[in-house]
Amino acid sequence: MGGFVRDHANDRSNISKVARDLTQKCRDYRDSADARAQGFYPYFRRIDDTFGNHVVCDGQTKIMIGSNNYLGLAQDERVVEAACDAARKFGAGCTGSRLLNGNIRLHEQLEEALADFLQREAVLLYSTGFFANQGTLATLTGEDDAILCDRENHASIIDGCQFAPAKLVPFRHNSAVSLRNRLKRLPADAGKLVVLDGVFSMSGDVADLPAIIEASKEFEALTYVDEAHALGVLGPQGRGTVHHFGLNDDVDLVMGTFSKSLGSMGGFIAGKREVIEYLRHKARCFIFTASLAPAVAGGVLKALEIMQAEPERLDALWRNTRKMHEGFRQIGFKIGTTQTPIVPILIGSEAKAFQFTQRLYEEGVFATPAIYPAVRYGEAIVRTSYMATHTDEDLDRVLEIFSRLARELGTFDDPAYREPGRRKNVFDFSLSYTNESDVVRADSGDPSRNGSVFHPTVSR
Ligand SMILES: Cc1ncc(COP(=O)(O)O)c(C=O)c1O
Repeated sequence: MGGFVRDHANDRSNISKVARDLTQKCRDYRDSADARAQGFYPYFRRIDDTFGNHVVCDGQTKIMIGSNNYLGLAQDERVVEAACDAARKFGAGCTGSRLLNGNIRLHEQLEEALADFLQREAVLLYSTGFFANQGTLATLTGEDDAILCDRENHASIIDGCQFAPAKLVPFRHNSAVSLRNRLKRLPADAGKLVVLDGVFSMSGDVADLPAIIEASKEFEALTYVDEAHALGVLGPQGRGTVHHFGLNDDVDLVMGTFSKSLGSMGGFIAGKREVIEYLRHKARCFIFTASLAPAVAGGVLKALEIMQAEPERLDALWRNTRKMHEGFRQIGFKIGTTQTPIVPILIGSEAKAFQFTQRLYEEGVFATPAIYPAVRYGEAIVRTSYMATHTDEDLDRVLEIFSRLARELGTFDDPAYREPGRRKNVFDFSLSYTNESDVVRADSGDPSRNGSVFHPTVSR
């Protein structure tokens, strides 16, 4: 019996080889411990209480400017009540995929309400926005196709492209010229899908949809817009970038999430009925995971209703947005090309972005830093974002604290701020005794680090 056993036992060629220890990298990982030791660790801040625009952490109330709760609906009592009602009626969870046992009336109602709101034939819910991107991109494309992807697209799109059998073709951020050049080089008969964020999550830029769509049409490419940060922010009643430009009939697929303006979690894809029907039966991220919890579906349905019924929220969001754009510019901060409530505050140096964030926290402001590759190399930011529910008092205080800290930390005199992107200031916590321009970690460009919080999102 068993040639395999005998052969294996006699085979001495592997005797000195030891299997690679998969956990060695965990033992070697020092970034978070270093950051804690330096007192600049900015992640996993524990929130003990929340009022939307304010949160309580470490026993102190902080102004929240690090959230995507644009319309303040996450804490709206009517939304919370609708979530509770749904849980009472259908239970805490659906305990299965919609395909099998987890399809409740609220899921279908929400799909219909979204299709109606976005003026689309049909909608499919996913359990997260991340899954909506990953599941759709991986399911729609095949080996001979190409996905053309803006370089600053969200990580869920980049990861979705990596799951997809199609070739990933990146184009320069928001550049129809670059897109056209890429499209030209593809075989005429290849299936082509152009994917981009409607509002870019780090820069706050709005996509140049008219030009991108024109280029896509020339090459018969399908278009796919991720409206995660545009829903509830741009367009009539917050219908998103596509409606903001009046291009709803020219975009093939619209993706969105409930984890921002709609105050909850979950995501969706909207498009033609036949496409949605196909995805419902083929997208693995949809089929092989439990459906949205009843409380989520019930809460989002109510939030969507309030968003349409209370346009004053959108007005307040834009009033606050304009105030902060002007306020930061007046102080002297560079806020890039943002046109939305996402306001990136350029710091330049990664270590100093962490230091700035820590000082903000100590002064009562909750924000988070973003470093390469979430933002361009050498252009670390403190990412801030504003809500309809922020008061003038909140916002004036935020501006006063930023202004004071910029002076205290010498932000505007820092060469990394004056000439962002020029210096090799890859992340380094040894702030006090290291000349940052000299420090380049050997592994800093390793794409395998993407997905870590220190190298958090897209590959460029
Ligand atoms: C542009 C964009 N797309 C997709 C997502 C993923 O959404 P979700 O939080 O629902 O997974 C995000 C979330 O940060 C995002 O910013």
